Amino acid sequence: MKALILSGGKGTRLRPLTYTGAKQLVPVANKPILWYGIEGIVAAGITDIGIVISPETGEEVKAVTGNGERFGANITYILQDQPAGLAHAVKISQFFLGDSPFIMYLGDNLIQNQLSPFVEQFKSKQLDALILLRSVENPTAFGVAVVDEQGRVLKLVEKPKIPPSNLALVGVYFFDKSIHSAIASIQPSARGELEITDAIQKLIETEKKVEACSLDGWWLDTGKKDDLLSANQIILDECIKPLNKGETDDKSQIIGRVQIGSGTKLINCSVRGPVVIGENCHLENCFVGPYSSVADEVTIIEAELEHSVILQGSKIINIHPRIVDTLVGRRALLTTSPQRPKAMRFMIGDDSQIELT
Ligand code: DAU
Repeated sequence: MKALILSGGKGTRLRPLTYTGAKQLVPVANKPILWYGIEGIVAAGITDIGIVISPETGEEVKAVTGNGERFGANITYILQDQPAGLAHAVKISQFFLGDSPFIMYLGDNLIQNQLSPFVEQFKSKQLDALILLRSVENPTAFGVAVVDEQGRVLKLVEKPKIPPSNLALVGVYFFDKSIHSAIASIQPSARGELEITDAIQKLIETEKKVEACSLDGWWLDTGKKDDLLSANQIILDECIKPLNKGETDDKSQIIGRVQIGSGTKLINCSVRGPVVIGENCHLENCFVGPYSSVADEVTIIEAELEHSVILQGSKIINIHPRIVDTLVGRRALLTTSPQRPKAMRFMIGDDSQIELT
């Protein structure tokens, strides 16, 4: 079995962060979202992985992720010249997939469940497609499925105005080679994309074996700021073990599960986990509260933050109201004069500078 991870597309929903970077590389607990998908696939015993990339962000994805060695996998990059849809991404990857069954994994999705039980079910029942479903409150934002009592999929619709159910398609799919002829027989949708939901619908109409499983663990589609902050919270809760490779002075207090990278200095700081702080950061006279991820080379002086994600190379200096529910892009500068505003809530893009004076 092979895997195809989709890491192209435009990433409009995390703008301005994704003007300058791939949305699949935005970190959750200081690790790119994409890497969680790769690790999950490798844990299911699949090491032959194709990653679909776009002309805009492909080089960055390649540079950060590499040839797969660090994951024990072999990665082939596949350039999609325009974001013409999920089924289009499969179409241009046929040279890599051949006749092999494969997992298709959307590079901005995170799921808690292990993939191997689904792989087993897909193989043992000799299915043409296995999809994963999860009930959601806003089905109009997703592909939506109607299933019968045996778990057979009766109908799929992409982002319907009037949803036929509240069961959303999760961005992890299992396909046999029959998906290729189904894709060859569909036309672009009203939004101009070759939709994978239409191709699966075609499999259903031609009486292929399409089944669905419900996800019992969490699923996060990290497309928006709040989704990203929830993903960060959940991963910090589950994965952070205490580890201090930095230097902490006597006045600093580290409480709970906190990970601190090498070359990082903490002077008179209080950090309350779960928190991850990257390498070569400088933190002075500050409080870092639960569910915060601070990337490498960040400076935080005279400031308080919690439930926030701060990306690489940013500086937060002299901000006294607590920063909460915030996402700060790379190399951003956030500083104030001594006057104190009462509350602040931000989504700040890469290279931004905000000065409240
Ligand atoms: O997240 C689950 C949803 O993902 C499903 O419920 C929908 O049925 C499915 O169509 C998809 O919807 P999105 O609107 O979230 O898809 P998005 O455009 O965000 O693309 C998903 C991933 O695929 C993302 O990592 C970018 C990549 N992609 C997307 C397109 C359109 C490509 O690599 N190439 C593309 O042409």
